[in-house]
Amino acid sequence: MLQNEPLDTFMPNCFFGMIIPLCICLCAFAGNNDIDERVESLLARMNLTEKIGQMVQINAFNGKIPEELKQRLRQGRISSMLNEIDPQTSLEIQRIAVEESRLGIPLIMARDVIHGFRTIFPIPLAQAAAWEPELVTTCAQIAAEEAASAGFHWTFTPMMDIARDPRWGRIAEGFGEDPYLASALAVAMVRGFQGKDLSAPNTIAACAKHFTGYGAAEGGRDYDTANIPEGLLRDVYLPPFKAAVEAGVATIMTSFNEINGVPSSGNPHLLRRILRDEWGFQGFVVSDWDSMAEMINHGFCSDLKDVAHKAIIAGVDMEMHSTAYVDHLEELIKAGVIPEELVDNAVRNILRIKFKLGLFEKPSPYSAKLSPKPSKRALELAKTMALKSIVLLKNENRLLPLSKDIKSVAVIGPMADDPYEVLGTWNRDGKVEDTVTPLAAIKQLLGESTKVNYVAGLPYSRSRDKNGFAKAVEQAQKSDIALIFVGEEAILSGEGHSRAYLNLPGAQDELITEIAKTRKPIVLIILAGRPLTIGEISEKAQAVLYAWHPGTMCGPAIADLIFGIESPSGKLPVTFPKAEGQIPVYYAHKNTGRPPHTRKLIMIDDIPLRAFQSSPGDAARYLDIGYQPLYPFGYGLSYTEFEYANLRLSSQHVKIGQSVKVSIDLTNAGETEAEEIVQLYVRDLVASLTRPVKELKGFQKIRLKPKQTKTVTFDLSSNTPGFHNKDMKYVVEPGKFHLWVGSNSQSGLMSEFELVE
Ligand code: NOJ
Repeated sequence: MLQNEPLDTFMPNCFFGMIIPLCICLCAFAGNNDIDERVESLLARMNLTEKIGQMVQINAFNGKIPEELKQRLRQGRISSMLNEIDPQTSLEIQRIAVEESRLGIPLIMARDVIHGFRTIFPIPLAQAAAWEPELVTTCAQIAAEEAASAGFHWTFTPMMDIARDPRWGRIAEGFGEDPYLASALAVAMVRGFQGKDLSAPNTIAACAKHFTGYGAAEGGRDYDTANIPEGLLRDVYLPPFKAAVEAGVATIMTSFNEINGVPSSGNPHLLRRILRDEWGFQGFVVSDWDSMAEMINHGFCSDLKDVAHKAIIAGVDMEMHSTAYVDHLEELIKAGVIPEELVDNAVRNILRIKFKLGLFEKPSPYSAKLSPKPSKRALELAKTMALKSIVLLKNENRLLPLSKDIKSVAVIGPMADDPYEVLGTWNRDGKVEDTVTPLAAIKQLLGESTKVNYVAGLPYSRSRDKNGFAKAVEQAQKSDIALIFVGEEAILSGEGHSRAYLNLPGAQDELITEIAKTRKPIVLIILAGRPLTIGEISEKAQAVLYAWHPGTMCGPAIADLIFGIESPSGKLPVTFPKAEGQIPVYYAHKNTGRPPHTRKLIMIDDIPLRAFQSSPGDAARYLDIGYQPLYPFGYGLSYTEFEYANLRLSSQHVKIGQSVKVSIDLTNAGETEAEEIVQLYVRDLVASLTRPVKELKGFQKIRLKPKQTKTVTFDLSSNTPGFHNKDMKYVVEPGKFHLWVGSNSQSGLMSEFELVE
């Protein structure tokens, strides 16, 4: 292909010319279009080298195609490539694979499209705070469209690792601490990427990752060991994956960590027994980057040959980046150590997805028509998602929303006008020139009549350079109010970026403290990839908006909330700790033998000197901060007030297998139209294994006009509050249950019901 040839003309001339005969040829072998038959027909023609080639994924060469790569493509020794972002190169690589290899099997081109491709949506943890699966689906649809038009068939998303430790940097990439919410959002995202038809030009294959237990890393240190009892694994960590498999996710990625002594990439219990035998997964399993080779470091494999052996036995179909399969599978088969049938099955799994994607008909979805800019629709959606993901944590004396007629505002802080950091972790293809920063949006919204006094105060979030403080104080002094934008830079969360201290980094606390001395009202807007320990610093502010990393349309979303164009509606998908020492802290904990009492807690300063050995005897808690988190799971304020009344159940005695209708009257008692996320929790009071004090089992988002009342009804299946018993069987045991419907995990009206056989 000539360098200057338009890519669109290349497609019909070259690919099409090749593909039609290829299809005819395949159809002739297959006899019809049935995918399994096509897979078998192709497999029957493959030699061992070509089969092993289908199990190999390599990284791109930065827009280059070295001779060695060409050779491997011609020999059919590569199945997939990740990260080739240059469309000319990508098309040429695909052309070599299709036209110059013996069987013309196309590559599956992959990219981490974690929260948007060109249009960057809020980080997944933020998307979870919107509690709106339909919106997650729509954002993923846009991301799929943009990624497909750039030539990609496959994204390594969604990440559905349950995370109960905000020190873990990758908490940003998932849906938070709760399996019910995470399952709903995982399904929503899979549907968005994959649509109804994987071969459609605007859909791409999704990947449920990281299978599994990755979020349970000891101490929140990325890649660290996870010890998860089987029951907890099945009740908490596996449900989102099971839901994704049921929703038809095309691929699964193994995790880096070991669970209970066995690394995920060598774990037949996870990859064969649970994933294939119990759940009937039909797609293919890819390792994480080098996670197979790292089984040597784990002390689970002696060398790469051992890695290949254990990974294929375990059920990894495709190896990402490391080279155990390409280097050793052939010799293992020839030596009779593993049967070729194992390779055949892995190749079947991979080819099945390639056929479903329609790669043999259209090897590249690249479209030269792709606009270099995000579409209007994409930007509107990015704004809506950001707006709905932001959580109002504090609003003393109803400081917010501000009037647009305000005379002057100070806009301060390192995150106020930074178009890069607000995009968050895993921004690979978003462009800073698309970002609308908070400063730009506020200026635009307020127009000429309000004076906007801007100063960053600190050049970036980690900075300790206080040279800008005096100017920041001056700007606050001459303004009616100070809007302070602080948080974490994008790189402080995400893979490999765990933190032991969860305070605002750098001198941001000091900046806020200095401005507070002016006694001007303060609104803190926190932009971060995880929950931060903002308890003390929040006391210096009258209002706090937690905006996470909101993406391309960060500014307009925040501005609309500050100035009351919309009311905040986001709710925390993860518990906020008061201090790092409190972690892990999550709402669905066990009651213990000494649950919290209602008497005053004896705190550290209450204990007399040389006190005789004694125990306060009251709950799993700390002497210095008690047991309550800073903010509970599900928490978030609104500009209006919602009242819950009249909780009723269709029956207080429910036969196991049947469902119960739970209704509540929700009233918008304030003056502002707004959305409320109504949450339903249950507790199994006595069971053969102890159960959490509360578990989310339903949620609905309801929009109400001022003074409007609506009856909200949940259909609670009696199968929902089950769990895995000692024999690892999912059971619903008869007995009494408590039930709450309310606005967060610590509030709500309570009722009870009994499950009977
Ligand atoms: C490693 C990460 O753990 C995984 O989530 C990602 O998809 C791969 N690298 C590919 O970039």
